[in-house]
Amino acid sequence: MPELSLLIDKLEREHSLSETEYRALIEGRNETLAGDLRERAVQVRKAVYGNTVFVRGLIEISSWCKNNCYYCGIRAGNPKAERYRLTPEEILLCCREGWALGFRTFVLQGGEDPWFTDGVLEPLLRQIKAEFPGCAITLSLGERSRESYQRLYDAGADRYLLRHETADKSHYESLHPAAMSWDRRMECLRELKQIGYQVGCGFMVGSPGQTARELAKDLKFIEEFHPAMCGIGPFIPHKDTPFGDRPGGSVELSCYLLSILRLIQPNLLLPATTALGTLDPLGREKGIQSGANVVMPNLSPVSVRKKYMLYDNKICTGEESAQCRGCLSARMASIGYEIVTDRGDPKTI
Ligand code: 5AD
Ligand code: FES
Repeated sequence: MPELSLLIDKLEREHSLSETEYRALIEGRNETLAGDLRERAVQVRKAVYGNTVFVRGLIEISSWCKNNCYYCGIRAGNPKAERYRLTPEEILLCCREGWALGFRTFVLQGGEDPWFTDGVLEPLLRQIKAEFPGCAITLSLGERSRESYQRLYDAGADRYLLRHETADKSHYESLHPAAMSWDRRMECLRELKQIGYQVGCGFMVGSPGQTARELAKDLKFIEEFHPAMCGIGPFIPHKDTPFGDRPGGSVELSCYLLSILRLIQPNLLLPATTALGTLDPLGREKGIQSGANVVMPNLSPVSVRKKYMLYDNKICTGEESAQCRGCLSARMASIGYEIVTDRGDPKTI
């Protein structure tokens, strides 16, 4: 195995390493390597995106979910989870508010809620597109049939976020009950891409049972799948889930992986996630300073925010966070970055 700094040179040059090499880079992580990776990632990010940060207005449309992922606070099996769903009219109101604030991308995210049929979503997507010309719509509504993905695309959805959660099948099976299939999840991602969506995948850092081996597989998967976006953030336990007493992931390792991902794919859209900001008050700033280039302020009505509690202590859920957009602009300005009013498509390079 060559010296680890040589691996970083190779990664920057070739945008590819073997799984064994990714693993060595993860296992050999130390302050010096992390600093070196971070500097190079920021350089690459600046060459592609300058000091601009893309924003997405996140609208959490439903806390109902039919799934039972062991890590997630809104899993069907959590009787303490408070449930809500926004009406199409309420979602449109969020978009209106967001448009006025300069958002040009709306992310409709929710649990897998059977109430949101294609018949409900199609007219909503068409209305959003008609009222806000030039906006991009991202959906993050979990696994659906290929036919449904196609219908939603035809109705105006441009992008789809579906975290793969882990590229290792048996690890996936340890995070989810038997009713959920890793093969189907991976198939969904391929279908979404074939249909023409800009696709986002992603994973949690420090999920129970995850080691450098699983993370190396995630990196290799992303290198090969070549998504438009990749959402990563630390695992944070939620007290009312089977993983409630497991240790959470770390901000440092999450940032290290963000830097590696930036070198794997220079134009990758990489959010500095809410989970990063939850573990560390400066987590999102650290994410940007490690190579991320997207933030996703919460645009959901303040009245429902505490009910979309994927993990404990999630930020931006109180009255004081009504205006996340302003908060994030100030945070980005404080580290020399600027949020732009733009759809924020990936740069072709
Ligand atoms: N900690 C961190 N991230 C979580 N997610 C769900 N539960 C947790 C948790 N406890 C992430 C998953 C999911 C996304 C919407 O949120 O990766 O895909
Ligand atoms: Fe939500 Fe700061 S980003 S309050």
